[in-house]
Amino acid sequence: MNSICDMLGIKYPIFQGAMAWISNHAIAAAVSEAGGLGIIAAGNAPADWLRKEIRACKEKTDKPFGVNVMLLSPYADEVARVVAEEGVKVVTTGAGNPGKYMELWKSKDMKVIPVVPSVAIAKRMEKGGADAVVAEGCESGGHIGELTTMVLVPQVAGAVNIPVIAAGGIADGRGFAAAMMLGAKGVQIGTRFLVAEECTVHEAYKERVLKATDIDTVVTGRSTGHPVRGLKNQLTRSFLQKEKEGATVDELEKLGAGALYKSAIEGDIMNGSVMSGQIAGLITKRQSAEEIIQELMKELKEVTAEKVQYITQNM
Ligand SMILES: Cc1cc2nc3c(=O)[nH]c(=O)nc-3n(C[C@H](O)[C@H](O)[C@H](O)COP(=O)(O)O)c2cc1C
Repeated sequence: MNSICDMLGIKYPIFQGAMAWISNHAIAAAVSEAGGLGIIAAGNAPADWLRKEIRACKEKTDKPFGVNVMLLSPYADEVARVVAEEGVKVVTTGAGNPGKYMELWKSKDMKVIPVVPSVAIAKRMEKGGADAVVAEGCESGGHIGELTTMVLVPQVAGAVNIPVIAAGGIADGRGFAAAMMLGAKGVQIGTRFLVAEECTVHEAYKERVLKATDIDTVVTGRSTGHPVRGLKNQLTRSFLQKEKEGATVDELEKLGAGALYKSAIEGDIMNGSVMSGQIAGLITKRQSAEEIIQELMKELKEVTAEKVQYITQNM
């Protein structure tokens, strides 16, 4: 069995990436039911909301699922306690070091899987007791680091002894196979799950992702130290213009505040932030979470067999 499946008690090494305001119990439960690891994003939400989501997820599936704790959230301390109290089996973390929660989570036998953008941070997380890491390349939607998945995953896999999950730019069996070849033990996928039938993101958001081409995303916020990848629109144009004019971090953060809610919940895809990965151009159809996972596994096997045959016959 794949070691990450063994460790987490899941059937397929496919994580549904946490997506703030978007990945609630509905998509998380559907992905876990289909054999992957569904993940509820705590984002900046209060602990009460998260407790309800965790309980709703348990109503829909008895399979393992995870929660993503955004460490910069004003509610991070309460959220960290709630995941432990509610018996969540897996926690992924973003935007910082989960060190201060490690003892609590480990005492509950939880698996802790930080999302990392570099080798140095991956090594620090391993030293701090992480069970695995998600190495996320900058092709991803949402907040990003500097390195691409292609260069990040093999370097992280070579530097740590815990399983590495590859994220960023993976949406079909070819990307899945490539990630495994680079040393990953599994993949985390965000953008493709945006258009899953069970995903409750606004319809206008889904349509925009389905219509996107390979060159439709852009990165804003490099000057603030918090770069974000999303689909180009009025918001990204104003943001980039203000960055060019030397706007202060405060002004820029005001412009970005509440922007994901505006598009994901209210459907304002012109003035809201339509976070999405560069792989959106490959995503052209709506499917259930189960169909997505089955298709990924089928393609992974086909593409791997095809390449092995090609290499053995031609090289
Ligand atoms: C709309 C959106 C919101 C996201 N929000 C979060 C988040 O709250 N926490 C987090 O760790 N990652 C977040 N991510 C990153 C995903 O969990 C995942 O790692 C990433 O989408 C993988 O790359 P892909 O988009 O190319 O599939 C977000 C991504 C998207 C597209």
